[in-house]
Amino acid sequence: MDSVALHPIEASTLAPQVDLLFYALLAFSLGLGIFLTVLVLGYAIKYRRGSKADRSGERSRNTVLEVSWTTATALMALGIFLWGAELFLQRDHPPPDSLHISGIGKQWMWIFEHQNGRREVDELHVPVGQPVVVSLSSEDVIHSMFVPAFRMKMDAVPGRQTQLWFQATRAGTYDLFCAEYCGTQHSEMRGHVVVMQPQDFAKWLASGPTVESLVQQGQALFRGLGCSGCHGPSATVHAPKLEGVYGHPVGLATSQTVIADDGYIRDSILQPKKQVVGGFDPIMPSYQGLITEDDLGKLVAYIKSLANSGGTP
Ligand code: CUA
Repeated sequence: MDSVALHPIEASTLAPQVDLLFYALLAFSLGLGIFLTVLVLGYAIKYRRGSKADRSGERSRNTVLEVSWTTATALMALGIFLWGAELFLQRDHPPPDSLHISGIGKQWMWIFEHQNGRREVDELHVPVGQPVVVSLSSEDVIHSMFVPAFRMKMDAVPGRQTQLWFQATRAGTYDLFCAEYCGTQHSEMRGHVVVMQPQDFAKWLASGPTVESLVQQGQALFRGLGCSGCHGPSATVHAPKLEGVYGHPVGLATSQTVIADDGYIRDSILQPKKQVVGGFDPIMPSYQGLITEDDLGKLVAYIKSLANSGGTP
């Protein structure tokens, strides 16, 4: 370490904003704390036992001062809330042109899989300057993916799909931790995020052991598991077509509308009765326990690839 830094290195677009909010809150709390402490100490000294301070009774009341002080603090609290909420929403909404990577937490390692099928363990290679979405799931217990340099942390929860996104701003290697106690080797469950120049990343991505892409593997599963029997082009069963579904609104039998995101597709496979599409019978069987997280990620990748196609990709 060259010098003692005030805060960990900032390596994502969100990091400086999070730090600014943190230091603003710190300054606000310190200012308020010092102000109140001075008041408490000042009055304690002024009205100490035996002092000659005036104790003759009620003082005049200053309504204007009371109202303006109350309003000002309420506005300050609201301002801090809106500031935090804005960052929170930003953190939850990846830009549409993001690079998608699937991530799985399991005791005690992180497995990442890129769109072309390249896999890595406890390392995540990403390009600098491009938004990256990691769709997270867990094989066993709750884990949490934490990259301090990005000021970003998200739980990987069994039975659920969560996602986090970031845009790295400087090349380098950054620590990746599991931030949720997950068993005896929790402290060993860590790795690195390697941020590379886009051309280096492209080279790295192409150079790896080439397996089939996630989408191709998903397509094979789609046939192998029998999904295509109902959802395929030649199916006779009355089942929703999956082309053009991902990212678009879906009308449910309950007349609610949901956006078909990763979580929705995942739920539709594991808990198909939860959100039945309007106009269809709830006849789809659940694949809970019949399919691994890994395969589920591939299926979701395949269904996502149908988003913009009118027919088979
Ligand atoms: Cu995984 Cu702690």
